[in-house]
Amino acid sequence: MLNIEAIRKQIISLEQDYQTIFFREVRSLVDLEKYRIEFLGRGGRVAGLTLAVGSFEDKIVRKKLGMAVNRVKQSAKELYDNKKRELSMVQDTLSAPEEILDVTQPALPPTRAGHYHPITIVERELADVFTSMGFMVLDGPELESDYYNFEALNIPPDHPARDIQDTFYIKGHPDWVMRTQTSNMQVRAMREYGAPLRVAVIGRVFRHEATDASHEHTFHQIEGLVVDEGISLAHLKGALLVMLKEILGAEIKIRLRPSYFPFVEPGVEIDVSCTLCKGAGCRTCKQTGWMELLGAGMVHPRVLEAGGVDPKRYTGFAFGTGIERLTMLKYGIEDIRHFYASELRFIEQF
Ligand code: FA5
Repeated sequence: MLNIEAIRKQIISLEQDYQTIFFREVRSLVDLEKYRIEFLGRGGRVAGLTLAVGSFEDKIVRKKLGMAVNRVKQSAKELYDNKKRELSMVQDTLSAPEEILDVTQPALPPTRAGHYHPITIVERELADVFTSMGFMVLDGPELESDYYNFEALNIPPDHPARDIQDTFYIKGHPDWVMRTQTSNMQVRAMREYGAPLRVAVIGRVFRHEATDASHEHTFHQIEGLVVDEGISLAHLKGALLVMLKEILGAEIKIRLRPSYFPFVEPGVEIDVSCTLCKGAGCRTCKQTGWMELLGAGMVHPRVLEAGGVDPKRYTGFAFGTGIERLTMLKYGIEDIRHFYASELRFIEQF
């Protein structure tokens, strides 16, 4: 009996084998012909797989597997053609009476095109959404002073909020930390650009914590900060809805729950309706229909002051979320560790 999983495995190993062989083992046209017969010949491995796929009864399975085999066949053929051209050129040059260097010879076309990592895809989408709403997009230093990462955000040295954001430190520099949050840019941005201000910060952050399906020690966040006269929680909700509908789809809903962060008052935690069960309740959202996504709130007056902004005149909102979490919700990825496992079978799905 034919087994779909077995065929899938054969397709993957076929792809890995011909790449290794065409790239590393083929040194001459004779080698190349030998491997052409093995892979692309009438009785070769590609033909064998095509035959096996054709004998599945289920049309959809046949179609899906057929497409996968065709893709592999196409790329094996391209590799073969390129290698042949390359080797023929070397042979011509060797057998020519004098060495000829044709500097006008067009370069060989790339055998495989690269593409963006899923985190980069979502980062670029986020940057687009926020620039379209008039935000500037900043990154900021990953190695940060304790002041901007904690103290300026109303988190003094002995504050318990530091315990949940332990990080990596630099030997000999007790005042430096690897930033734990993109909130480190709040006071920097206010000092640099003053009010009114609309800024999105996208970048890498670090935490000294054990990894599991939803936690990494190094991950990415996006922070939003708006400071102006008359800014309220309603503006926060509006901006977040635009962002989440753009990234996760128009049907998404959000809800705000009271929460605590030392640098906002009031503080909220924002949940998004579960993208998998559409709010009906499932295992992933623990039957609640909601998933916890981000922290936010109205910028604390002390933080405005630290940024040189008059809290009697201006108010502001801020929010911060993990880009990995957002990407997992968007694509239905169940484990955050896939992002950094360097596994092509995962990465190539995006
Ligand atoms: C913060 O980092 C605050 N700076 C957010 C904020 C900004 C609040 C502005 C108020 C105003 P928190 O530690 O909850 O909060 O992290 C924010 C988000 O980052 C989480 O909701 C989650 O999406 C993501 N996150 C946190 N820790 C990890 C981790 N270890 N791995 C992956 N994502 C994480």
